[in-house]
Amino acid sequence: MLVLGIETSCDETGVAVVENGKALRSNVIADQQLLHSRFGGVVPEVASRAHVDLLHPAVEQACAEAGVTLADLDAVAVTIGPGLVGALLVGVAAAKAYAFALDLPLIGVNHLVAHVYANVLEHGSLPSPAVVFVVSGGHTSLLVMEGEGEFRMLGQTIDDAAGEAYDKVARVLGLGYPGGPAIDRLAGEGDPAAISFPRSLLDDGTYDFSLSGLKTAVLRHVRGHQGELEVADVAASFQEAVVDVQVSKILRATREEGLDTVLLAGGVAANSRLRAKLERDAAARRVRVLAPSPRLCTDNGAMVACAGTFALERGERTPLDVGADPNLRIVPGVGRRGPRRPKRGRGAAPVGR
Ligand code: KG4
Ligand code: ZN
Repeated sequence: MLVLGIETSCDETGVAVVENGKALRSNVIADQQLLHSRFGGVVPEVASRAHVDLLHPAVEQACAEAGVTLADLDAVAVTIGPGLVGALLVGVAAAKAYAFALDLPLIGVNHLVAHVYANVLEHGSLPSPAVVFVVSGGHTSLLVMEGEGEFRMLGQTIDDAAGEAYDKVARVLGLGYPGGPAIDRLAGEGDPAAISFPRSLLDDGTYDFSLSGLKTAVLRHVRGHQGELEVADVAASFQEAVVDVQVSKILRATREEGLDTVLLAGGVAANSRLRAKLERDAAARRVRVLAPSPRLCTDNGAMVACAGTFALERGERTPLDVGADPNLRIVPGVGRRGPRRPKRGRGAAPVGR
């Protein structure tokens, strides 16, 4: 079965062809980082317009690289949420048009579920039950995957998502956008123990996360050390504070839930320190950690095609009148907690993703 996967929830136009939900035939990612970098974050309207320009050539390229034509496809899978509404709509409209014109089933996919399924492309299957940590530009969620596609929420961020915090701190440090990879690289040259930044909610007994205090502490440190700032030390110390809390909560979840497998997912799962520390500490407790390779952690169409194939095999179909849902949940009814925030995707101001 050949499934076309389309991803346009944020600033990557991703299109892929995946065979039988596992074999990557092609994976085209047209990123828009240059377009957004001068604004220091993703500008929703700029992203939507770029998706319009990039999507159809990306579909053609994905088919050509896979050695197939549109007529060879068996289904079209597309991210329907969560994400920036205008950006999502471009992918959803295109996917509907391809499905209708080619008379193929349409499968609407939750972006966060797709991130989890990137693990199938890497490891061949999704072991369950497992503790799942979805950590991206817009989300930080610790879950238990009870069975295929069934999730129970343990906790999530009460303010900033991890990727959002990486991007904001990178901006303060003048490292450009996107911030996560830049901080990851620079942290390798710094001392993670140089500055003692706060580890919010480390021992609070919940599975929630909070990063706004850490972000403020970094900002205060930077303002207080103008002219003598060791940027690599700040990056390393910030990253260590983020990762310490993440690893501690993930491993406590495995203990309390009696599970021995952790699945990492989302753009921030590409973080080298998170991967290294989690793998080391988990191995000491005989817990296995699975993560997609870094290039499949960040947004791509292959994970969408993969999750779509499994949904198709479960008998799911999405009607052609489906809309985009910018606030789609991974667990129905369980939303992002904490203070009310401006919705992602509103207005023309850059959002920290
Ligand atoms: O999943 P993703 O590609 O898009 C969303 O769904 O949001 O995640 C993007 C986020 C950005 O905030 C980016 O800075 C972060 O993932 N990121 C990283 C790394 N690579 C990407 N954060 C930390 N370390 C990395 N190596
Ligand atoms: Zn994502």
